[in-house]
Amino acid sequence: MAQFTKNPPLNESDLPPAPRTLLEHWLADAVALPMQEPTAMTLATVGADGAPSARIVLFKGFHEDGLTFYTNYESHKGIDLAANAKVALVFWWDKLERQVRIEGHAQKLPEAVSRNYFYQRIRDSQLGAITSQQSRVVATREELDARLDANEQRYREAEVPFPPFWGGYNVTPTLVEFWQGRHGRLHDRLQYRSKNGSWIVERLEP
Ligand SMILES: Cc1cc2nc3c(=O)[nH]c(=O)nc-3n(C[C@H](O)[C@H](O)[C@H](O)COP(=O)(O)O)c2cc1C
Repeated sequence: MAQFTKNPPLNESDLPPAPRTLLEHWLADAVALPMQEPTAMTLATVGADGAPSARIVLFKGFHEDGLTFYTNYESHKGIDLAANAKVALVFWWDKLERQVRIEGHAQKLPEAVSRNYFYQRIRDSQLGAITSQQSRVVATREELDARLDANEQRYREAEVPFPPFWGGYNVTPTLVEFWQGRHGRLHDRLQYRSKNGSWIVERLEP
């Protein structure tokens, strides 16, 4: 592991009362750097059988105090979330030597919010969303391409219909840990834990 030297110490006295404010600062720092996907986060879900599963999704902003992302509700993650709303999220920004870990529960966003976002996306993304039966096995690449071509033809002169199986989730956090690398191995870890509607800040050993 590299020596982390970029950041001043992360002190309890510097922390805002709610984690959202600090996360917004850290996200803004990441977005300001030349990074491929500064809003990429790992989303871990747990299926009805207790098996965990993780993949990257893109953070698409806050809804109330939750973190949103968009996906196919019938995908592997969608099926997991229908059975178990508990999730974990992880951001890692190597250039900033910072990690944020979040635990919470995911709820579907209101359909009107998802629909609004769907129509802000470029047409190719809309066509991709209606075409892909995300996470299912497909026999060949050609089958997928043919389905996309058919949808392109079908909606050539028309609005792409909003798919009922697609939309956003909002993750309401109950735990948010801010990790920052420091010289040596004693990195800073400060976590916000939700208790009776307010946030408690605790330092964790690295
Ligand atoms: C950088 C990056 C961003 C991604 N963003 C999303 C996203 O916002 N939503 C999504 O459904 N999949 C996204 N994916 C694809 C997922 O990682 C994953 O392959 C897909 O959602 C299917 O996951 P599942 O089968 O576990 O449901 C992204 C992948 C990468 C590498």
